[in-house]
Amino acid sequence: MKTLIFATNNSNKVTEVRSILGEKFKIISLAEAGINIDIPEPYDTLEENACEKARVINSITRGNCFAEDTGLETDALNGEPGVKSARYAGEGRSFEKNIDKLLTRLKDLENRKAQFKTVICVILNGEQTVFEGICKGTIIKERRGNSGFGYDPVFIPEGSDKTFAEMTLAEKNIFSHRKKAIEKLTTFLKI
Ligand code: IMP
Repeated sequence: MKTLIFATNNSNKVTEVRSILGEKFKIISLAEAGINIDIPEPYDTLEENACEKARVINSITRGNCFAEDTGLETDALNGEPGVKSARYAGEGRSFEKNIDKLLTRLKDLENRKAQFKTVICVILNGEQTVFEGICKGTIIKERRGNSGFGYDPVFIPEGSDKTFAEMTLAEKNIFSHRKKAIEKLTTFLKI
């Protein structure tokens, strides 16, 4: 089986990507590769951050790897929190505080439309390629569900009446931005 290093420290993302790829590909997390660094996300776009993360890990391992950066973009707040989604409420990267801030900022606004966007950057034999996946939906006013991570308890994808946090991983994968981006990656990798 072919292997790829996934340049992330987020175990939720590793679980999701493994559930999408199944037995097709062996995904090695940074921890499993013995790499213990907090990869910077210094740029103003998801694409630049994803590519920076992939380049950092590629330069350490000299191996094939991929990274992803994801943001939640709301219509009413002109795309906020976007590329700043992880640190929306400050450097602590608290999922709870990030949701609190989002709900406060949207409080009196009628337009609750939002989308998750995932950008994947893969470096294969030294060549860099980028893929994108989008999931449109709405932000509800109160949290629902206990599964998933991040903004999942307040996001309902189009075509469902459940939040991502009320879904199993298999259900989330029917709609998910990450699934769409990973599918493009698997087509590219011909697996
Ligand atoms: P990053 O891609 O690790 O920078 O994550 C950006 C932020 O978006 C983090 O705070 C995550 O909690 C959030 N996020 C990323 N993917 C998802 C998802 O699939 N559901 C909910 N929140 C997510």
